[in-house]
Amino acid sequence: MTDYLFGHDQRSWLDAIETLASSVHEVDRNALRIWFSFWPLWLADALRDADSIEKLTRELDLKGEYRLGDQIDSSHTFLYGHRFWPQVKAAVVALDARGVEGEEIDLAMLAQRVAADAAGAGSGDASLLLGISAVALMTLRQVGSEAFAASPGEVKLSASVARRTPSQIIAARAKNDGAGLAALFKGIRREYTITFDENVRSAKFKLIGGLEMTTASMIDPRDHSGYIDSRCRPGDGPIPTECRSGACGTCWVGVLGGGERLSDVAPLEARRMKRFGYTDSDDPRPVIRLACKARASGNVTVVVPPWSGVFGNHLQDKSAGIGGSAADVDEEHAEDPRRH
Ligand code: FES
Repeated sequence: MTDYLFGHDQRSWLDAIETLASSVHEVDRNALRIWFSFWPLWLADALRDADSIEKLTRELDLKGEYRLGDQIDSSHTFLYGHRFWPQVKAAVVALDARGVEGEEIDLAMLAQRVAADAAGAGSGDASLLLGISAVALMTLRQVGSEAFAASPGEVKLSASVARRTPSQIIAARAKNDGAGLAALFKGIRREYTITFDENVRSAKFKLIGGLEMTTASMIDPRDHSGYIDSRCRPGDGPIPTECRSGACGTCWVGVLGGGERLSDVAPLEARRMKRFGYTDSDDPRPVIRLACKARASGNVTVVVPPWSGVFGNHLQDKSAGIGGSAADVDEEHAEDPRRH
C-alpha cells in the first residue's frame, strides 16, 4: 500500500483532511489538523533524501524531536483517538499487507475504511477513529511498512486519563475562568488558565487577561519539570521560547480549544508563521499560533509540538505551496535581527 500512499503529495493529504473533517468527532477535529501541521510530509521526505541530515538540520534550524519515526506510537497522544491506536494500527498493517493498488479509492475513503475496520474490531464509534486512522496512514507513508509494523502499538495514557469521555474533554476545553461580573465592575484583572498538556493534570498555568501565552508561561512559579519539552530553558516556563518577538519559531503551538479567546493573528505573526513554514492559513484564528504573539482573554488549551524550525523559504525553493511569497521571505530576512 505504500506505493499507493507515495502517489499523493502534501496538498493531496491536506485536501483529504478537509474532506474528512466534518465526519471526524468534534473532540478530534482541531487535533487532526494540528497533527498534520506538526508532521508535514515534506519534512520526512527532505530528511529521507538529504545527503547530510546534519547539514539539513542546520539549514532548517531544526530543534527538538523532529523525526516521526522515533515517535510512531506517541506523536498523537493529544488526539482522543489515540486510545484506539492498537486497533487502528493493526487495521493499517492488515490493509498494508492486502494492498489497495488498482482500486478506485482516494485518501479520505482509505481513512474511512481503516476506521470502519478498527470499529468492526470492537473499537466503537467510527467518528472517533477517523482522525487517528488518517494519522496512522500518514505515519505509515512517512516511516515505511517495516518501521510502522515494528512499533509496539501501545496506548501512552494513564488509566485515569484514558477513561475521560469525549464530552468531558470538550466541556473542559469550553470552561472559562475569570472573576465574574462583580470583579469586572470593580476593575479586578481577570485570571485564566492555559492548559499545555491535557493528559497531565498539573500541566497548566495562570494568565492575566491580555497577556501573551509565553509571557504568562515565564512568570508561572510552579515546577513543571518531568513532563515539559526538553527545549524549555530554566526560567522560561513550560512553553519552549527563545526570542519572544516572533523571530525564532520556537514557540509554535496547536490550539485544541479556546481559539476564539486568543487575539486575532496580526500581520507580523501571519508573516512569520509563513516564513517558518508552519501554516499558510489566512484564518484570523488558525489552529497553529506563535505563543509569544497570541494574547489570551480566556482559558485556552494548547498542545506543544516536540520540535521547531525555520523552513518557509526552503519550501518556497521546493515549490511545496507553503512559505509565503518571495517578497515576504525577503522582507522577513531583512527584518530578522539574527541575520545581521
Ligand atoms: S519565542 Fe521566538 S517566535 Fe516566539
